[in-house]
Amino acid sequence: MRIAVIPGDGIGPEVISAAVSALDVLDSMFGLGTELTTFDWGADKWIAEGVGLPAGALQMLQRDFDYILFGALGDPRIPDMAHGREILLGMRRGLSLRVNYRPLYMPDHTIDLYRENTQCEYVGVGGRIESSGLVDVAIDQCIYTRDAVTRFLAYSLADAVAKGRHTATLVHKANAIPNTGALWQDVFWTEIGKHPSLHGTEEYVDSFCYNLIDDPRRYEAVVLPNLFGDIAADLGAFLVGGMGMVPSASISPETGFGLFEPVHGSAPDIVGTGTANPFAATMCVVLLLKHAGRSDAATALRECLELCAASPAATPDLGGQGTTQSFIDAVLAQLTERSDDTPQHRAAER
Ligand code: NAD
Ligand code: IPM
Ligand code: MN
Repeated sequence: MRIAVIPGDGIGPEVISAAVSALDVLDSMFGLGTELTTFDWGADKWIAEGVGLPAGALQMLQRDFDYILFGALGDPRIPDMAHGREILLGMRRGLSLRVNYRPLYMPDHTIDLYRENTQCEYVGVGGRIESSGLVDVAIDQCIYTRDAVTRFLAYSLADAVAKGRHTATLVHKANAIPNTGALWQDVFWTEIGKHPSLHGTEEYVDSFCYNLIDDPRRYEAVVLPNLFGDIAADLGAFLVGGMGMVPSASISPETGFGLFEPVHGSAPDIVGTGTANPFAATMCVVLLLKHAGRSDAATALRECLELCAASPAATPDLGGQGTTQSFIDAVLAQLTERSDDTPQHRAAER
C-alpha cells in the first residue's frame, strides 16, 4: 500500500501527524505493508519557490502510489488560495477523482453524501474584464458534461446500493438553473432505473438544506453537484459534532485511485493551539483502509476513534479537555490494548 502523504497548511500537518501515527500502529498490528512518502506541497513552498503542484506530479502520483492522504490547504498569506486550486483541484481533476464521498456519521444513522468533484463552477472556465484596476465583469462558468455526470452517478449509486441504502436523493436547483439541472435529472433517473432496490427522490438544494437539519434521518444516500456538495458537507458537519468530524474519500471510478482528506480546511484560527480535532483526518485512514479492502484494520480504528471521541481525552470541540495529541494517544492506547488481546499475542506471552 503505497501512500503519498500531503499534510499541507495550517492544522493539516497537526491532524495528519495524528492520522499517520494510527496508520503506523495498524501497520504493525495487521501487517498492512504500508509505505509512506511525505510531500511538502503547500503555502511555504508556493511562497518560497513559486511551486504548487510540481511538474510531473500527477504522473508520478499515478505511477508510484496507490492512495493519497491529504491534510488541508489554505494560508492567510495567499488570500486568493491560488496554490490550493492548483494543488487540490489539480489533483481532483487531473487524477479524475470524480466521486467525493463525505459520510455523516450520526450515532444511529449515516448519511452518505456523494459530491461530484471535478466540474460545475470548479472547471476553471471563466475570466474577468477590468478597467482602471476594477473588475467590471466576472465569469465563473458552471459546466457539466453528460459523461462526467454519468460516471459520477453510476459509481455513487452502485456504492450506495453496496452499502445497503434504499433511497437516493438528487439535490439540484433545476428551477433556477435549468440546463445543468435538467442534465442531472435526466442522468439520475436513467441510472436509478438500473437499481431496482433503490428508490430515487429529488429536492431543490435550498429546501434540502432546511430538511437536512430538520429531519436528517429521512436521507440515506444523497448525490450533489460539486458546489452544492461542498456547502452541504459543512452544513452536515453541524449534525455530527462539527468540522473536525467529517472525513472524505475522492475516488476515481476508472482507476480506483483515491485521495483521502478531511472536509475541514486549514483552520488558521486554531493552528498551533493543540486543539485541532484529529477525528476527521484519522477517519480518512478508516476510509482508505476500507477502500483498500482492509476492513479488519478499518473497523478496529473506527471503533477506537468513536470510543475516544466520547471520552475526556477528546478535543474541546467535542466537549473533552484533551488536545490533538492526547486524543490520538488515547486512540493508540485503545488499539494497543486490542493487539495485546489477540490470540497470537496471548500465545506468545505463554
Ligand atoms: P475551516 O474548515 O478551516 O474552519 C472553519 C471552522 O471550523 C474554524 O472555526 C475552525 O477552527 C474549525 N475547525 C476546522 N477544522 C477543525 C478541526 N479539525 N478541529 C477543530 N476545529 C476545526 O474553514 P475556513 O476557516 O473557511 O477556511 C480556512 C482555510 O482553509 C481557507 O484558506 C480555506 O480556503 C481553506 N480550506 C481548505 C480545505 C481543503 O484543503 N480541503 C477545505 C476547506 C477550507
Ligand atoms: C473542500 C474545500 C475546497 C472545495 C476548497 C478549499 C477549494 O472547501 O474540500 O471542501 O471547495 O472543494
Ligand atoms: Mn468545503
